[in-house]
This record gives sequence, structure tokens and C-alpha cells, in this order.
Amino acid sequence: MTPITTPPASARLRVALLAGGKSGEREVSLAGAEEVARALDPAKYQVRRYDPATDLARLAAEAPELDVAFILLHGRFGEDGTVQGFLDLLGLPYQGSGVLGSALAMDKDAAKTMYQAHGLPVSPWRMARQEDGRNPARILAQLALPLVVKPVRQGSSLGMGIARNEAELARAISQAFAYDSEVMVEEHVRGREITVGVLGNDQLTALPLVEIVPGENHPFFDYQAKYQAGAAREICPADLPEQIVKQAQEYAQTAHRALRLKGYSRTDMIVTDTGLVVLETNTIPGMTPTSLLPQAAAVAGLDFPALLDRLLELALCRSETT
Ligand SMILES: Nc1ncnc2c1ncn2[C@@H]1O[C@H](COP(=O)(O)OP(=O)(O)O)[C@@H](O)[C@H]1O
Ligand SMILES: [Mg+2]
Repeated sequence: MTPITTPPASARLRVALLAGGKSGEREVSLAGAEEVARALDPAKYQVRRYDPATDLARLAAEAPELDVAFILLHGRFGEDGTVQGFLDLLGLPYQGSGVLGSALAMDKDAAKTMYQAHGLPVSPWRMARQEDGRNPARILAQLALPLVVKPVRQGSSLGMGIARNEAELARAISQAFAYDSEVMVEEHVRGREITVGVLGNDQLTALPLVEIVPGENHPFFDYQAKYQAGAAREICPADLPEQIVKQAQEYAQTAHRALRLKGYSRTDMIVTDTGLVVLETNTIPGMTPTSLLPQAAAVAGLDFPALLDRLLELALCRSETT
């Protein structure tokens, strides 16, 4: 039997794995980081962990000893461009989008404006004001019920609400303002929910579609369903006509370019009777082997460790050209 030899430490890529942070998605981030740390091949990578909630000074001090960062932070102060800017200042490349793309995608109002400018179909929306939470007549004159109320810069459905009448709308708007100083209201779109992953910096590849089917206990708040274990079924590749699959993949790539994204992204859409509607794009999608983008990558032939290799490769070749 040949002895197993680990390459010398110097031949391995030194990876800073950033997880934890201060957002409402801290726990999701830490759980994902465990999986990523386990899947990164120890023959290729030497991994050091950093929690931005406590370790930013240590990261800055140790940056000269690192080759690349893997950011596994969701929501504010992680997915929104702030950590990306910090790493840019340190000269440390990282997977995924830069400052501008991250910030644009995090702001659902800015993202929808960019989608529209690039010809992507979106649901009509308005920005809410604090006083609309007391009297939503102004919003009701412009948008048709049922409505979805969202904090502009949140993820994981936090602070979101659905309103089928005026009283529910007032309540949902007031509640959403507890999560963000900016709140938007958009028309509810009825249809089948899909999400489409994209890989690449300039040459893009769209992954197979995943359909998310909420469980029966979630007839209205279907958007909450997908985050509770077992509450939703995920089907990949989605069973949809070829023409819709092609269009969704094109839209996901257009969204990726429109928001100036790099490396990877995952765009959520709804398939309606009259066509596709684009909801939002995630720049640091969930990263456990069973998360949506890794599932789709696996169907396309990239297992979880190979996906991580690819994301780090894309990070390094982007840093060579910028
Ligand atoms: N306009 C809409 N019509 C129907 N469902 C929606 C609409 N907007 C959001 N949802 C539902 O809410 C979920 C979360 O909304 P999304 O905009 O993707 O924000 P996030 O995932 O960042 O919380 C979606 O996956 C979808 O199920
Ligand atoms: Mg979403």
C-alpha cells in the first residue's frame, strides 16, 4: 500500500473561511460553513476560520498569509458589499460578486430597477412610506391586491408579509419597517416558483432549474415554507417545457450581468400562465450540499467539493484580470 502523503503546506491554497457575522442569518451562515470546511479538500486547501462579528482585526493582520477568502455570510454586513470592500482593501480575492454587484443585488428596489432596464419582467412595485402603515390608501390606488410587503435589504423572507386586504396591508407595512428603514410593496404573482443558478465571471453557464413546491400547510405564506425543514419539496431538474427552461436560464444570466455579478448567483422567479417574472437574485446562495444551487450544480455534474473548487478558481482568475 502506498502511504498517503499530504502535499507540503506551502503548495496548498490558504483559504480564509468567513462565517457568522451579525445579520439575522448568522446561524444559517455558521451551519453552511461547517459543510464548506468539511468539503474543501485538505490536500488542496488549508482553511482558517474568521467570524466577522469578532475577528476582523485578526483577518486584517493575517491577510498577508492568506491566498483567497470564501465568504459565507448572508444578509447585511456580508452579502451586501461591505465585507467585499474590506477584502478589496486587504488585497484578498474572494468568491462571488464585488462591492457594486453585492450592494445592487441586496437592495431589492435597486435590483428591480436594473432588471427593468435590461428588459426583464418584474412584478409592479412601489416604495412604502412610514405613514402608509397607518393608511395604505395611496398604495392601494397604485397596486392591486394581494400584495407582498418586503424590507428592501433583507433575505430569508425575514420581515416579509402578504396582504389580501387593506388592514393586512397596513399591518404588514408597519411590521416590515421594524426590519429596515426602506420597505417595498409588490403585487403578488401566482404561479410555480423556480430558482436558477448561474456560474461564471464573463462566460456564463446557467444551471438546471430547481422548482420549489411548498407544503400543504403553507397555502398563503408559501414563501416561509421553503425555509422550514421538510416544509417544501425541491425538484431538480424542474419538470417544465424546454422553452420555459431556456428562457429562465437566459433571464438568470441577464440578471447576473444586469447586477454586475461575478462567480455565481441564484435568481428566484415565478412561472405564471403568461410567462416568467423575476423576483430577486442571491449573490451568496445557501451553501450546504443540499442547498438549492449546490443541488443544481450536482445535477449538472459538479459535486459539492468540485463546485467549491470552481468558485475559488473563478475568484482567483477574476483577481488576475481586475
Ligand atoms: N411578488 C411575489 N409574489 C409571490 N410570491 C412572492 C413574491 N415575492 C416574494 N414571494 C415569495 O417570497 C419568497 C421570498 O421573497 P424574495 O423576494 O425571494 O426574498 P428573500 O428570499 O430575499 O427573502 C419567494 O421565494 C417567494 O416564495
Ligand atoms: Mg429569495
